[in-house]
Amino acid sequence: MDLVTDKIWQEMSDKGLLADHPVRYFAEIESTNSEALRLGREGAVAGTIVVADCQSKGRGRLGRFWVSPAGTGLYFSMIMRSALLPQYLSRITLAAGLAICQALEEVGVFSQIKWPNDLLLGGKKIGGILTETGEIRAETNTLVVLGIGLNVNTPSELFPVELRSKATSLRVHEAQNFTRGDLLAIIVSHLDKTMLSLEHGGFSEILASWRQRDAMVGKELSWLDPEGKVVTGIALGPDDDGFLHIRDRGGQVHQVLSGDINLAGSK
Ligand code: BTN
Repeated sequence: MDLVTDKIWQEMSDKGLLADHPVRYFAEIESTNSEALRLGREGAVAGTIVVADCQSKGRGRLGRFWVSPAGTGLYFSMIMRSALLPQYLSRITLAAGLAICQALEEVGVFSQIKWPNDLLLGGKKIGGILTETGEIRAETNTLVVLGIGLNVNTPSELFPVELRSKATSLRVHEAQNFTRGDLLAIIVSHLDKTMLSLEHGGFSEILASWRQRDAMVGKELSWLDPEGKVVTGIALGPDDDGFLHIRDRGGQVHQVLSGDINLAGSK
């Protein structure tokens, strides 16, 4: 799917608008998150979307690289100004995961979420969320950049060899092409709804819907705890604050605030 045949994408780029969202479109950029953080610090309005056809330094969580080849994937970041207290900002990632799943369901694709930020299809990763914040000040809403990467029409050959067993795309899994502009519009409308609910105290409903799409609950996984020790146990799902619980083989329950979890036995 290229830019010319992807009509909505082209229109969006020409008009600079997607629903009520100002759009900054780039054919190539280092990272839409970095650009959105820069624009946000300069005062760009909440709702501004930075979207790129490809990224040369796409960033993932935990310092990882996000593979962002041209003409295939959806790479965008939304500038938000959140009134949530700093300790609740991590809820934005969970809410975004749910919104993306619901958007994909609208086009007949049933994805799942691996806590906290991975989108999975058939057990493989199709997307990820990178939420970053500007300076947190008590007197103003916090600048939050919500970055989303989705492997839409990406053929397997474009993933590095070491990722091919773990990553997939909508096209590879569903055997059909998807229009990135259409998907972007659907995802953004779900994000708008979900973020509005989150800002208005709707986290428990969001979490209830999130739990229905939890890819890991009941599975054995391992987690590197903050002291560098590997904890292996059964995923109990997120608690009411959104933090993952794992019950280890000795029966002790660990609360995971951050870091990486993996199915036990995989890397
Ligand atoms: C992850 O799975 O670790 C998160 C990946 C997030 C990638 C997206 S692509 C658009 C935005 N810009 C970036 O540099 N990263 C996010």
